[in-house]
Amino acid sequence: MAQPPMATARTSDHQLLCCKSIDKLIAEADEPGHRLKKSLGPWSLTALGIGAIIGSGIFVLTGTAAAGEHFEAPSMLHAQVLDLISNFLRTGSTAGALMHGRPAAGPSIAISFLLVAVACSFAGLCYAELASMIPIAGSAYTYSYATLGEIFAWIIGWDLILEYVVSNVAVAVGFSGYAKAQLAVFGIKLPNEWASPVWASGHWTGSYFNLPGFLIVFILTLLLVRGVKESAGANNVMVLIKIGAILTFLVVGGMLVNKANWRPFAPSGFAGIVTGGAIVFFTYIGFDSVSTAAEECKTPQRDLPFGIIASLIICTILYVGVAIVLLGMMKYTTFVSGEAAEAPVAYALKYLGAHPFFRSVIVVGALTGMISSLLVFQYGQARIWYAMSRDGLLPKLFSVVHPKYKTPYWSTWIACFAVGIPAGLVDIGDAADLSNIGTLFAFVLVSLGVIFLRRRQPDRPRTFRVPFVPWFPLISVVLCGGLMTGLTVITWLRFFIWLALGLAIYIFYSRHHSEFCKT
Ligand code: ALA
Repeated sequence: MAQPPMATARTSDHQLLCCKSIDKLIAEADEPGHRLKKSLGPWSLTALGIGAIIGSGIFVLTGTAAAGEHFEAPSMLHAQVLDLISNFLRTGSTAGALMHGRPAAGPSIAISFLLVAVACSFAGLCYAELASMIPIAGSAYTYSYATLGEIFAWIIGWDLILEYVVSNVAVAVGFSGYAKAQLAVFGIKLPNEWASPVWASGHWTGSYFNLPGFLIVFILTLLLVRGVKESAGANNVMVLIKIGAILTFLVVGGMLVNKANWRPFAPSGFAGIVTGGAIVFFTYIGFDSVSTAAEECKTPQRDLPFGIIASLIICTILYVGVAIVLLGMMKYTTFVSGEAAEAPVAYALKYLGAHPFFRSVIVVGALTGMISSLLVFQYGQARIWYAMSRDGLLPKLFSVVHPKYKTPYWSTWIACFAVGIPAGLVDIGDAADLSNIGTLFAFVLVSLGVIFLRRRQPDRPRTFRVPFVPWFPLISVVLCGGLMTGLTVITWLRFFIWLALGLAIYIFYSRHHSEFCKT
């Protein structure tokens, strides 16, 4: 029987600080016409997590992060924020900072992977606590609406759109590059005009559109609109294939290791490790998307923490293995540019004469990894837009559910074009950095949300509790904030521009359509 709608109660005199009631959030999600199908269990969630986590990052960024980056013209925009701060604190000026790019991590990129995994675990625990208390679509956006207030929810929702859209643009572009290379192995040569970025490294390339990048997003959208069950099934298969491909690489590549390449282990010391971490953080993005599926879980209180932590542990083991093997196969300086930078794994295998069969197995597995990552991000993205629309912060169209498939199909299609069109135009370039800063910022807010909610609602049942609150969430804030400082000034600037644009939309649209506007 339909329940009468719950009244909206203000938690603050200021609309900006009004929080959603958790009970009301759960009740709204159960309204007919807004209800999503509940079909996911713990291992489907873990597979969803691995599907999102292992994408193009491990296959593209491991080499470049190890090799570092160098710009000919010195510019403050290319400097690392951490470097600027430490120079300023030491000497009172920023003149000593490296304005030419980023220091190389070398083989110590394996340590960067571990460091980032630790940071993600603390943030993951915070996600798990909130996700198991508030099993509603929308991830960090919904959590911050229930804990910090409307303005924070808007900022984080807007920030998550950046994370999901931009990272999937990067993955789709990576997919296109690897797909082109693999098709060439099969004797099919795609014309560069239709299979490479239109804009790269600050100039036009002469290409018209990167069609494979767009097409893969389009095809996955067709799958997602049909419903989560079918998509999760396809995802499970793809996850198994890509784990198999990585294990194959560890064995085949492991036999080609030359130990001399592991020295020097950390050519730029701790600075290189932190900078490397800020880049390879991209490879972990995705575990948080497990929580976006909360509303479609059978038993969210038990399954969400399991899915988040299990997917993180599995991926960390695989990533550290790939880093150690790849950086043992070739000197880290090899991966600074060209083919070695674009597809380091494929390059190292080809250069060292690995059997073409194994090379194909690994590259096809990598492509599969990218597809499953794209799938989960397109899925999560549509759920965040759906949740923001249900709250009136985005137009109602975004929360319309398909009458037959029970999926938010308008959001899913809009997400398709929001990712597919830029993926047809831009280079991977700075996309990964931009999505890193957005995600790290979201992690900081989620961790603070745990502390606030423990104080504001200490008695609400929590099936999963972060140990040692407030210390664990604070460690998460410090580690994620620290990784943010490993990014460059230009990335911070772009991030602030994105947030300013979001605030303008909030002021001129969302504020007037929010439920707290009417009460
Ligand atoms: N973690 C995802 C990747 O590495 C975004 O592609």
